[in-house]
This record gives sequence, C-alpha cells and structure tokens, in this order.
Amino acid sequence: MLKTKIAGIGMYVPQHIVTNNDLLKYMDTSDEWIKERTGIKERRFAHRTEETTTTMGVEAAKIAIQNAGIAPQDIDFIIFATLSPDYYFPGCGVLVQRAMKMKEIGALDVRNQCSGFVYAISVGDQFIKSGMYKNILVIGSEKHSFGLDFSTRGRNISVIFGDGAGAVVLQPTTKENQGILSTHLHSDGESAEILAMYNPGTHANHWLPQKLADFNEAEIGDMFMSNSMVDKAQNFPFMDGQSVFKKAVIKLPEVVIESLNANGYKASDINMLIPHQANLRISQYVQHQLGLRDDQVYNNIQRYGNTTAASIPLALCEAWKEGKVKEGDLVCLASFGSGFTWAAALLKW
Ligand code: UT7
Repeated sequence: MLKTKIAGIGMYVPQHIVTNNDLLKYMDTSDEWIKERTGIKERRFAHRTEETTTTMGVEAAKIAIQNAGIAPQDIDFIIFATLSPDYYFPGCGVLVQRAMKMKEIGALDVRNQCSGFVYAISVGDQFIKSGMYKNILVIGSEKHSFGLDFSTRGRNISVIFGDGAGAVVLQPTTKENQGILSTHLHSDGESAEILAMYNPGTHANHWLPQKLADFNEAEIGDMFMSNSMVDKAQNFPFMDGQSVFKKAVIKLPEVVIESLNANGYKASDINMLIPHQANLRISQYVQHQLGLRDDQVYNNIQRYGNTTAASIPLALCEAWKEGKVKEGDLVCLASFGSGFTWAAALLKW
C-alpha cells in the first residue's frame, strides 16, 4: 500500500538572537518570569526588511529538497502554513514557486496557526496516497517579530513568540515500516476570539461605506490612522493565556492517544514526541500525562520561543540532526493553538 514518507527535512532561523533581558528595554518583564512561566531563554528575530516569512521558508525548503536528493523543479505541489504571510494576499506558496523557479505547480496556503504544519502534512499525505503527486514541499514559517506589541500592554504575548522556518519534502513509499500511519485533525470554533488577531479583518469595516459618503479624501486618510481598531491594539495578537493553557493540556494528550489507538500502539511505544512548542510547561505536562521519559520528547522552545507553524518542523529537524529520530522510529507530531485547532500525525521515520 502507498504511504507518505518524509524524504527530506530542513530548517532556517535568523541569526539575530534576542534574549529575555533584551526585551526589558521595551516592557516591564524579567528573565525570571519568562523562564519560569514559559521555559524560553531566547528567540530569533528576522531582519526587518531582508528576511520575510517566505524568504525564511525558501531557505528551509532548499535544505529539505537537497536532503531529499531532488531539485526544486521536481516539486509538484507546495503547501505553505503560516499566520504571518508576506502579504494579506496572495499567500506565501506562490512566492516560493517564484523564488525557487519551480514549474507552474499548485501552491496552497494553510491558515491553521499552531496546528498549521500538522494540517499541511495531512493534506500532503492525502495527495501522495492518492497517487496525485510524488514530491510535495511542505513549509511552516513565521515572522512574528513584525507585528507584536512590545509595550508592557502586550507582554503576555510578545515574550513568547519568535521567528523561523522548517520544511519537509513528502514522497510515496511502499516500505512496510515507514511513512505516515495516520493524521487526526480537530477544531472547536467556540473560543475563536480568545487567541486571535482581529484586524485586518472584514468583521470590522461595515461602517466604511456609510462614513465614506460623509468624508472628503484627506479626512478618510485621518480616519484610517485614528481608527479604533488601531487604538484598541486589534492589529496585534490577543491571547487569554490561561484559557488556552487549560485547553491545550487536555487536547494535546487526547489527540496523541487518539493517534496511538488508531494504530494499535501505546504511549510507551513512542520513540519521539514532537509537541508544538507553545510553552515548556505545556510540553512537560503532556509528557507527564502520557508517562513519557525525557528522551521520548523533544523541546527547543528554550532557544526559539513559540514559532507557531514553524515550531514542529524546527523541533523535528533538530531532533533528526541530533540523531534522536532514526529510521523505523515511531514519531508523533502533536499541535494545539488558535481556533482552537489541534492535530496529530503518527509516523514511522
Ligand atoms: O501557541 C499557541 C498556543 N498558546 C499557548 O499555548 C499559550 C498558553 N498560555 C501560556 O503559555 C501562559 O498562559 C502565558 C505564558 C501566556 C502566561 O503565563 P501565566 O502563568 O498564565 O500568566 P498570567 O497571564 O496568568 O499572568 C500572571 C501575572 C499577571 O500579573 P498579576 O495580574 O498577577 O499581577 C500578568 O500581568 O503575570 C503578569 N505577566 C507578566 N509579568 C512579567 C504577564 N506577562 C508577563 C510578562 N512579564 N511577560
């Protein structure tokens, strides 16, 4: 039976390291608070103009493609997961197609925030299993630093996030002890607004046509600048951290167990769990719930912060490079985030 394997993996993080102490210049926080509540010691911030979500994704993709032993022109589909795209539209997928001089292939953007990479893997898996595509490039990339509130008002969010990118190449395999065994996708939109960035969003602008009639051109400019959506910081991400935390520690173990049950495995069979890197305390709680040893869970949030769609491929790539993910290993990718959405992929490396 045709299955999907990860044939190549790559990652890219910006060179610029921002420590917790660096953030003290902008907000009322402390190294102790950030380390104790999140485990984060430092994160990377992209160059303000030269690095974008797409350019970082392309750098990760080049390595993944090289590791797969193919050329960019061999890729027959692109899936790009991000919540921080270069443009509101078009998506980053087409920018990758252009930058890497690929054929006129399909390019799909996935908007599932922290679960984006696992959702993207799941979509790619279906295309590979059906025989439609043979070399799919999946990228998770984020440039959070462009749009965080670095004043004390935004400290519960801005200390968490970092920039970076990871990529994989998916290919078919017929080997029995290799490939994606199953993927499990979930959502619950009831809490959509407790971890969200409201603007730019079409929910906000229904006042515009009526007002337009009353203002001249110069006043319209002013109106945009002093618009309440900016005053209320609705163009920055909002998070009710405690509510997200409480849901994450329930849904993450649940979806891992769901993926194990679907394939006749137990938690102790996992060689490596790669949880979304949202908060080290969440990962440790999940590890404890599942009864896993330290060497069965990979965390790198300490060095990169929360990189949303990039966090799982970054952690998977580092685990692989360190020899902690080897051929035949049972690997579980598990995510939870805005939406809420949560997901898992169980695979044999
Ligand atoms: O990746 C997407 C999914 N996201 C997550 O899974 C994140 C889940 N949530 C979390 O990781 C945690 O809730 C946070 C790390 C965001 C916050 O930690 P917390 O332990 O839940 O803190 P809190 O929001 O309850 O705030 C506790 C206190 C407050 O002060 P008072 O009201 O007790 O005086 C905050 O104002 O800590 C204060 N605080 C800070 N203090 C110093 C909040 N942020 C900071 C900060 N530095 N950066």
